[in-house]
Parts: sequence; C-alpha cells; structure tokens
Amino acid sequence: MENLKYLSGFNSEFSSEDPRCPESLPKGQNSPQVCPYGLYAEQLSGSAFTAPRSENKRTWLYRIRPSVKHRPFEKFFNSGVVSNWDEEDPDPNQLKWKPFDIPKVKTDFVEGINTICGAGDPKLKHGLAIHVYSCNTDMLNRAFSNSDGDFLIVPQKGTLSIKTEFGKMTVKPNEIAVIQQGMRFTVDLAEPSMGYILEVFGQHFTLPDLGPIGANGLANPRDFLTPVACYEDSDVKNYEVVVKYQGRMFVCRMDHSPFDVVAWHGNYVPYKYDLGKFMVINSVSFDHCDPSIFTVLTCQSEKKGTAIADFVIFPPRWSVQEHTFRPPYYHRNCMSEFMGLILGEYEAKKGAFQPGGATLHSIMTPHGPDFNCFEGASKEALKPCRVADNTQAFMFESCLGLAVTKWGAKTCEKLDADYFKVWQGLQKHFTGPKM
Ligand SMILES: [Fe+2]
Repeated sequence: MENLKYLSGFNSEFSSEDPRCPESLPKGQNSPQVCPYGLYAEQLSGSAFTAPRSENKRTWLYRIRPSVKHRPFEKFFNSGVVSNWDEEDPDPNQLKWKPFDIPKVKTDFVEGINTICGAGDPKLKHGLAIHVYSCNTDMLNRAFSNSDGDFLIVPQKGTLSIKTEFGKMTVKPNEIAVIQQGMRFTVDLAEPSMGYILEVFGQHFTLPDLGPIGANGLANPRDFLTPVACYEDSDVKNYEVVVKYQGRMFVCRMDHSPFDVVAWHGNYVPYKYDLGKFMVINSVSFDHCDPSIFTVLTCQSEKKGTAIADFVIFPPRWSVQEHTFRPPYYHRNCMSEFMGLILGEYEAKKGAFQPGGATLHSIMTPHGPDFNCFEGASKEALKPCRVADNTQAFMFESCLGLAVTKWGAKTCEKLDADYFKVWQGLQKHFTGPKM
C-alpha cells in the first residue's frame, strides 16, 4: 500500500515518521549522540552544501543501518544504459519509432532500461539521456540508484509500485514520478510494463516560473505527492544495489534491505504527479500558443530561459481560436524535440504516431502536421471543440543536440524508414502573384 502526502512546495521542509515508530525523528538537532530507536543518522545531499538557500537540497535519513555497509561495487552487465554518444553517425532526419516491445525473456525494470538518445557528460554534470524501459518481472532483492542525475519516469503501459528509501509510490500511466540523484528505489510490476525516462545530469527539475500567468496554473505545487516513511527490517543474503555511475552500471551486494529508513526530514524527496491535474492555459482569441505553455517541469541550463530539458504535455483541452490554423504550426527549432505518446491519438499525426512509440525532431530539422492534418484543419469550421480527449502526448525538449544510440538506431528495430512520407503529400496552394 502506498501512503502519500502533499509536497505542497518544491523547497519546503518535510518530515515523516513510520507510524510504527512514533517520535523516531530526533528533536532539536539532526545528529544526536544516540538517535531514537538506535537508528543511524545519514544525510543525503542533493546540492552543494553552500548552494543558495532557495536551491539548497538535503534530507536527513534515520535508518537501521547506514548505506555504507555494503561490499565492493562490480560491473553490472545486464544493462542497455549507455552515455557514449558516438556509437552512431549523427542523423538529422525526422525519426519515428514504432511502439517498443515488452521483452520475451525475464527482465526487471533496471535490466529493461535502454538508452535511446542523449547528450552531455554525467562526469561534467551537464546533459541528459532519454531511455525506454520495458520489463515483465519484479526487481527481486534488487534496488537501483542513479549517481549521475535525476530520473523523470513516464509510464506508458503498466502500473509501477515504486519502493523508495522515503516510502512507497504507485505510479500508473498518465502519472509521472521523479526520483532524484542518489535515491535508492525498487520497482514491482502489476503487469508487463513499458515507459520512458528523462534523465538530467546537472540540475534538478523545478516548476516553471509563471510570469504574467500569476500565482496559479499549469502544474500546481499542491498536487505533487511525496511518500511517507515505511521501513522494512529485513536481513537478505546478497541484496543487490545497482548504481549508475559515470554512465556505466555497477552492482554491490549487502546483507539487508536498503529500505530501512524509519524516519526522515528535509526538502530532497522523490515525488509523483497526476498529469490529469494539469491546469491548461491556451489561446482564447487567435493563433497557436508555443508548446512551452504546457510545461509541467523544467530543468534549466545556466542560460536564462533555456532548458537542458523541459517536460511538456499536450493534455485534453478546449480549442476555441478564431480564424486560426489550430494544430501545431510547421516548425524548425534551435532545440531538440523528443515526443512520446502515453495514450490516444496525437492531433497532428492521427494514426501515424502510436502509443508506446516515439519521435525525434532534431535541431533545425523541419516538422509539423502531416498532409491529412493540414488539409483537414485548413477547411474545418472553427467552432469551439475538444482536443486530445483520452489522449496524452508529451515532449522532452532540450537545448542540446541529441545523439541516437546504437540501440535506438538499430538494435530496437523500431525505426520507421517511411516516416518522411507523411509530409510528401503536401500540396502547393500558392495562388500566384496579383496581376
Ligand atoms: Fe516543434
């Protein structure tokens, strides 16, 4: 059973005690000589000690054993995670992947992660990776922790039961989870499952500023949920902790479950969010707003207003613009646009883009509505109408140029060589010069 509470602010202090151990949080200090219940105090730092107060992130964990009690790390071979962006030659084409498969052999969440594209270097704390996970079995006596950055997990098929050091979260399609750098978690499945992961190496995700929108709107802070402490006191021979470190996967073994945190307090926590709670803002006069109006979370670069990665959704909404071509406009962008489809039909490419698939429109690569979409939207009567009902498409948008991995280009065998054809039927409608 999950037990969650509202996060209510991205830099607020939270505290949580497992109800079985009341008064387990030390009072008045972080690290007393002896902690209540004989627990160990351990700090998890998510920012430099000296980061500005508004960005400073850390949590104190009170646990049965400190994390350091483990045997040495060794290479973990069952992994498709890479951070070598030179496996394939650059490809500026519009790319589309057909829906990714559930594996035929027994594969857990961490074994089922394959990197599809990315840029940057986790050693330099700059960049991102986009992964696809596809799995069919629980992570039995195995946890995962990412030393390189944060995971934003977007389930497409199957509900994930995520146990973290902070407590449990159940995350289903049309919800997302963010598990930040260094937080250990394990994933159990209700059914064979698949989804997308956006990993950022440098900064943490934040809510976008709202500017003239005002104090409310888009993803509201009160709708983010964080787990309640829930420990297990479990001696397990050879419990595995898999760690992503400098782009490679390692594993160490320990003699107990790492999910032994009885109480915690701090502002560095995992969280989940229901995309159905997004307050959509859109044009009510004319023209198509830039998709940034649908930003759920952003990870900013050091360049003002420019994201290492934005997480953007295209939720169900009303479309009411007058004398306007309402679908997305034709576009060339100085940013990279990776899109996925959680459910339904994406408005600009009905039928050509399937749930569980993906597209990548790279820097300055043209993209936009296909032939059918253009012809239909140019002629339709512009009454108020619903858009994207029972649909959720999303975009990971980045200022970095994304390189496709060997898995993305070849091994997954899902690239659709005919994707370019969706635009080939576009006709010339030019009426000629006025004589
Ligand atoms: Fe675009």
